[in-house]
Amino acid sequence: MLNKLIRKSEKSISIPLGKRKENAQQEQLPGHIAIIMDGNGRWAKKRALPRIAGHHEGMKTVKKITRFANEVGIKVLTLYAFSTENWKRPKMEVEFLMRLPEEFLGTYLPELIEQNVQVQMMGNIESLPEHTKRAVQKAIDQTATNDGLILNFALNYGSRDEIVQAVSKIARDVQEGNVALEEISEALLSNHLMTKNLSEPDLLIRTSGEVRLSNFMLWQLAYTEFWFTDTLWPDFDESCLMDAIENYQKRNRRYGGLKEGEGN
Ligand code: IPE
Ligand code: IPE
Ligand code: MG
Repeated sequence: MLNKLIRKSEKSISIPLGKRKENAQQEQLPGHIAIIMDGNGRWAKKRALPRIAGHHEGMKTVKKITRFANEVGIKVLTLYAFSTENWKRPKMEVEFLMRLPEEFLGTYLPELIEQNVQVQMMGNIESLPEHTKRAVQKAIDQTATNDGLILNFALNYGSRDEIVQAVSKIARDVQEGNVALEEISEALLSNHLMTKNLSEPDLLIRTSGEVRLSNFMLWQLAYTEFWFTDTLWPDFDESCLMDAIENYQKRNRRYGGLKEGEGN
């Protein structure tokens, strides 16, 4: 444990963050990074604070990471903020989480506009409380013409729900004679998902030590590179993101084939 701590601090002392960023920019960056922001509750519990204090702290990490991802030159950042299963949590926690977008965007929207960030949202918007919908819609509208980083919030998002909706729309189109059975393809299904305007994630990060997908982008992650870290989301910072990006840049993405020089 101590060794690990020493190694970690040596690493950050030896290469400053700015330099790491510059180095990474010389190589292929992940165009789309998706993050399962997990561990807010445990962060709070460790400090004997209520779980919502962890969510509040996690919101600060969202700002920090969005700003930095934009600086690095990432094109799309998808953040899993609330799953279709998170309604199972205590009412008070759910209500707090549904207030967070307003608080986040209330203080941060001007900066997002200035940084040329475009806010998008995927998930079942209809069943969100009115006040949450309003805050998110305002951010989407006011950043619609920005062409920098796309900040895509997965809010009330569930991948199975997304796939069911897509399949049901396609079935209806077939039934009504607008789509022929032979036209059903991977591309057609992809075009019915909530990510239809986005590239697929190149890198998936999950914080807090959990190693599962929790109903997140099951279709889109087919060939994504995964990065799991024990760091809790409120503790995740710029250097943690650089760790993930640097590791990604060492990977060999084969997509089932071989790289040049790997064949006989
Ligand atoms: C992630 O943190 C935020 C949401 C799921 C909304 P958690 O609230 O899941 O934190 P843990 O996993 O209980 O520590
Ligand atoms: C996944 O985290 C959802 C979000 C990060 C928004 P959870 O904390 O809800 O996932 P499980 O319950 O541990 O699988
Ligand atoms: Mg969790």
